[in-house]
Amino acid sequence: MEVSAALKPTVVVIVGAGGDLTWRKLVPALYDLFSDKWLADRFVVIGVDRKEMRDDGFREHLREGVDQFSRRGRTDEKAWSTFASHLNYLTTDFAIPGGFSSLSDRVREQEKTWGAKPQIVFYLAIPPTMVEVTMQQMGEAQLCQDRDRVHVVVEKPFGRDLISARALNRLLTGTLAESQIYRIDHYLGKETVQNILAFRFANALLEPIWDRRYIDHVQISVMERVGVEHRGAYYEQAGALRDMIQNHLFQILCMIAMEPPVSFQADEIRNKKVDVLHAIRTIHPDLVHEVAVRGQYGPGWIQGEHVPGYRAEPNVALGSSSETYAALKLFVDNWRWQDVPFYVRTGKRLVAKVSEVSIQFRPVPHQPFPVEALGEWQPNRLVIRIQPEEGISIRFQAKQPGLAMRLRPVDMRFSYREAFDGPTPAAYEMLLLDIMRGDATLFMRADQVEAAWSVVSPVLDVWGAVAPMDFPNYQAGTWGPEAAEVLIARDGRSWLQPAISEDEEEKESSE
Ligand SMILES: NC(=O)c1ccc[n+]([C@@H]2O[C@H](COP(=O)([O-])OP(=O)(O)OC[C@H]3O[C@@H](n4cnc5c(N)ncnc54)[C@H](OP(=O)(O)O)[C@@H]3O)[C@@H](O)[C@H]2O)c1
Repeated sequence: MEVSAALKPTVVVIVGAGGDLTWRKLVPALYDLFSDKWLADRFVVIGVDRKEMRDDGFREHLREGVDQFSRRGRTDEKAWSTFASHLNYLTTDFAIPGGFSSLSDRVREQEKTWGAKPQIVFYLAIPPTMVEVTMQQMGEAQLCQDRDRVHVVVEKPFGRDLISARALNRLLTGTLAESQIYRIDHYLGKETVQNILAFRFANALLEPIWDRRYIDHVQISVMERVGVEHRGAYYEQAGALRDMIQNHLFQILCMIAMEPPVSFQADEIRNKKVDVLHAIRTIHPDLVHEVAVRGQYGPGWIQGEHVPGYRAEPNVALGSSSETYAALKLFVDNWRWQDVPFYVRTGKRLVAKVSEVSIQFRPVPHQPFPVEALGEWQPNRLVIRIQPEEGISIRFQAKQPGLAMRLRPVDMRFSYREAFDGPTPAAYEMLLLDIMRGDATLFMRADQVEAAWSVVSPVLDVWGAVAPMDFPNYQAGTWGPEAAEVLIARDGRSWLQPAISEDEEEKESSE
C-alpha cells in the first residue's frame, strides 16, 4: 500500500464541521487512521462552520462522537489529547463573500509553520443545497487552484436527477479538474463490497461460469430495519430510488456485472463500471409499472415494539408520496448478460437489516436422479453477504445420509469474521485514506453518476407524475409490499429471504 502519500503534510478542511457527518463518521474515522499511524505527524484538521465554537469546544464535541463511533471504543486521555492537538476550528459563514478569507490565512500560516506546501483536502460535509454557493466562495478565495495538491470531496446525494447532476458536474468542473473531485459513495469503502472484485478477479474458478449460460438471475437486496429516523425532511425530497438504488445498489450491480479490468488503475475500473451502466436496457415509460415497484411503510411491529408509519414520522407530510421501498427489474444488454434479469430492491422498516447479492445459477441440463431423490432439490446459489455477517456462501446439493438416495441443499460458508483476525476498518477510513493518496478508484466519476441517473430517470419521471394510490402499502416489520413479490413472481421466481441467525440479530442491534 502507498503509505507515503497519506503521510505527506496534510490539511483536511471539513466544511460544515459542526454537523452530523463530521461527528459520527469523519472524525471517528480520522481518529482510527491516526491511531493506526496511517496519517502524517504533519497533519491538521481545520473545521469550518457557522456555529460559534473555539478549538477546545470543538474538540470536546468531537470526542463524544469518537467515543461512540470509533471502532476502538472509548478514547483514553493520552490517545485523545495527542489526536486532538491536530484539530482546529474556525467560525465563519462560508456562504457570504469573504467567508473563506480567514481559512486562506489559516492555511498559509500552516504552510509557514511546516515550511512545506501540504496537500489540502476540502471535505464538503454540507447539505447539497449549499454546494453551489460554497464552491463559488472557494473559487473566489482561490483555494483550489493547485490541481496536484488540492482535492475536493463531495458527499451524496449527487444531484436529484440527471439534469441537476449534470449542472452540479458543470459547476464543479468550472473550478476544479476532474482529477481533483472525489464524489463519495461510502458503500464503496466497505470491505465486503471491495471483496466482490477480489472474489471475481483473483479466482479463476468463477469467470468461466459468470455469464448468461450459467446464471439464471441476480438479486441485490439492501434491506434496513430502521425507519427514516431524523432524516424525514431529506427523505421527502429523495425516496428510496434516489437515496439507495441510483448509487449504492448500482455500484454493487456494476461490480457483479463488469468485465474483468486490465489493471486496478482508477480509470480502468471506472471505465468498466460505466460500460455496465451504459448497457442497462432503457426502461420505456409505458413499462415502468411492469419493472418497478414502490412502497411506503405503514405502522407495524418490529422486535416487539410498535413503530409509526412513515407519514407519522417527524418532518414528513401527512399525505406523502415518497417511497421508502423500491424494487426494479433490469437487464444488462451485452454478450455476457443478455436476458439475465437483475432484480434490485431496498427498503426501510423491514424485518431485518441485511445487504446481500444472490447469484442464482441455472438448473442442471439433465437430472439423472430418480424423482424421489429430488424432493428438496434447488439450483446452485452464491450469496455474497455485505452486512451484517459479512461473507460468502455457496449452496449445492448433497446426498442426505441414509440408505436411500435423497438430495438436500447445503451451504458452504466463508465468514469474514472467522477467516480474518482484527477489526475491519470503517468505510470512511478507507475512503479518507484513498483521498489522501490520490486514489480515485472507489469514487464516482462524472460520467458514472450521470449514467446512473439516466437509468432511473424514466422511473423517477413516471413516479413523479403519477401519485401512488395505495400508500402506505406495506406494514413495518415485513419484507415490503406485495407488488414486489408479484414483480419477481411474474417471472416464475421469488426473492431470496435472507436467513438471519440469532448472532446476527445481536450484532445488528449493537451497531
Ligand atoms: N450524516 C450522515 O450520516 C451522512 C451520511 C451520508 C451522507 N451525508 C451527506 O453529508 C453531507 C453533510 O451531512 P450532515 O448530516 O453532516 O449535515 P448537517 O448536520 O446539516 O451539517 C452541515 C453543517 O454545515 C453548517 N452550515 C450550513 N451552511 C453553512 C454556512 N453557510 N456557513 C457555515 N456553516 C454552514 C451547518 O450549520 P447549521 O446547523 O447552523 O445549519 C451544519 O453544522 C450531506 O450532503 C449529507 O447528505 C451525511
